[in-house]
Amino acid sequence: MSLRLIANWKLNGSKEFNQKWISNFFKYFNSHDFSSLGIAPPSMYIDHLRGLLGKNNICLGAQNIDEEDSGARTGEISASMIKDLGCGFTIVGHSERRTLFHESNQAISKKLIQANRYSLVPILCIGESAEEYQDNITHEILHQQILGALKGSIETTSLIIAYEPVWAIGSGQTPTPEEINSVHEMIKDVVQSRFPKIDLASVLYGGSVSITNAASLFEQKNIDGALIGGASLDGKEFASIANVFNKIKVK
Ligand code: PGA
Repeated sequence: MSLRLIANWKLNGSKEFNQKWISNFFKYFNSHDFSSLGIAPPSMYIDHLRGLLGKNNICLGAQNIDEEDSGARTGEISASMIKDLGCGFTIVGHSERRTLFHESNQAISKKLIQANRYSLVPILCIGESAEEYQDNITHEILHQQILGALKGSIETTSLIIAYEPVWAIGSGQTPTPEEINSVHEMIKDVVQSRFPKIDLASVLYGGSVSITNAASLFEQKNIDGALIGGASLDGKEFASIANVFNKIKVK
């Protein structure tokens, strides 16, 4: 199976955290198939985590890459470096990057090109604000974000989109599973009709996913998986969500 459940650890972690996480995860995960799982730790812990993971094929990835390949760009990390560490994916355009670090659609487009160049599957994040949700313009906003990110990156062949309403991230609130399902259907339609060369592997949902709501989300046809922040910081909870996912989606 392709990547479906991705842990986004954000700015959290340490060597000790990695060790505890791995031991909890393996204690509670009840399958031997790791192919749908990905972890995006802070980039500097990728190698440490790989050492702890051993031979199993949980995919490792970055939370962000730079839009350029190399050069005088203090503090940045390139797609080629992430590939060099044996990673398989990178998150691109997370709403925290868009708001806190003023990432533009143009920068996001360039990052998609970099990811594609080094065969990293980009997890492109899109999502509406609370105000846009209340104004009932979610579909228009997402449509614009998709076009803005993809129109310059037509070479991108393989893609995962994560629908993450900004107001749902870390808030304990979510749209209803049915609302998310219909948004995902729209995303799939837009990508297929506007960018037929792109292979949209899956559309994930992100924003306050937890063990409490996982089953109701995964039961929806068009919710292919999840990008998980807070609940992924606990290896036991991430394993429990993955067990629910396997029960519902893996036949
Ligand atoms: P959350 O974060 O699960 O803590 O809401 C999701 C994300 O930001 O990717």
